[in-house]
Amino acid sequence: MKTRFTEADAAAELRADVREGLTDEPKWLSPKWFYDAAGSELFERITELPEYYQKRTEARILRERALTIAETTRSSTLVELGSGSSEKTRLLLDALRKTGFLQRFVPLDVSASALRAAVTAIEADYPGLEVRGVVDDFTTGRLDDGADRLVAFLGGTIGNLLPEERAGFFAALREALRPGEWLLLGTDLVKDPDRLVRAYDDAAGVTAEFNRNVLRVLNDRLDADFVPEEFDHVALWNAEQEWIEMRLRARRAMRVRVARLHLEVDFVAGEEIRTEISAKFRRGRVRDELAAEGFALEHWWTDEAGDFALSLCRA
Ligand code: AVJ
Repeated sequence: MKTRFTEADAAAELRADVREGLTDEPKWLSPKWFYDAAGSELFERITELPEYYQKRTEARILRERALTIAETTRSSTLVELGSGSSEKTRLLLDALRKTGFLQRFVPLDVSASALRAAVTAIEADYPGLEVRGVVDDFTTGRLDDGADRLVAFLGGTIGNLLPEERAGFFAALREALRPGEWLLLGTDLVKDPDRLVRAYDDAAGVTAEFNRNVLRVLNDRLDADFVPEEFDHVALWNAEQEWIEMRLRARRAMRVRVARLHLEVDFVAGEEIRTEISAKFRRGRVRDELAAEGFALEHWWTDEAGDFALSLCRA
């Protein structure tokens, strides 16, 4: 494994990010910081909820299309942005192996421990495959040199970036790829707002706990004194931007101290912190955002209900 983003880098970014977000008006926190061990486990539970269709729908599309993807791209290297130990990685590896061109798997993840587990599992099950894990912040879009690559960015995580961040990500990725290399992108799609809101405000309250977990992360890592139970989970559909927003709403006026930042943050009763956007797409927006950064959308596959899409794009 190779490290391009250390624990110290992550800690510095967390400090800078939290200072900026909690002193901004309105307040915000980056969804990057949800995923400590507890947050990752809560996210896994979210993907099993009846209301949260994304993960299983994407897997269904991929199961149907993996062979076509492999035959179209004939890639020798699968690069996966986000840890690759899942069923989806294996579907792609199996299909690429059938073409006879597959040589290498390059999973990227910020979490060294998640990456180590992924590398070990894939190495055990794919003898002869060269596996090169890279610890990095995959939202930068930077990649090491390579050739004949298929870059998979699945799960709809692109939707957690703001439009200008998405443009920067696509631009960096396009810059890192050679003409003719491929991007496979998973995007959640615009649909009935009630269904979308339920997917982010489930009846069992798992997403609410996931949302509050970011405050626990700040308590642990920055020695903050948030009382997570004093914040209500809010999920709403922003129809103008076509994204879901998650927020945490202070139940009462309070002052929170973030000791490691020497920062005191005041909340009025009802004040909100935006903790995540999750953009929902239409085909035209995906095509245009990619085209603006030099990618051509060559295939667009959805499930029958049109809930989720996989896009295969050429650099
Ligand atoms: C799968 C990481 C993109 O935005 O739907 C799930 C994260 N947030 N429930 C998404 C998430 C709230 C998720 N991603």
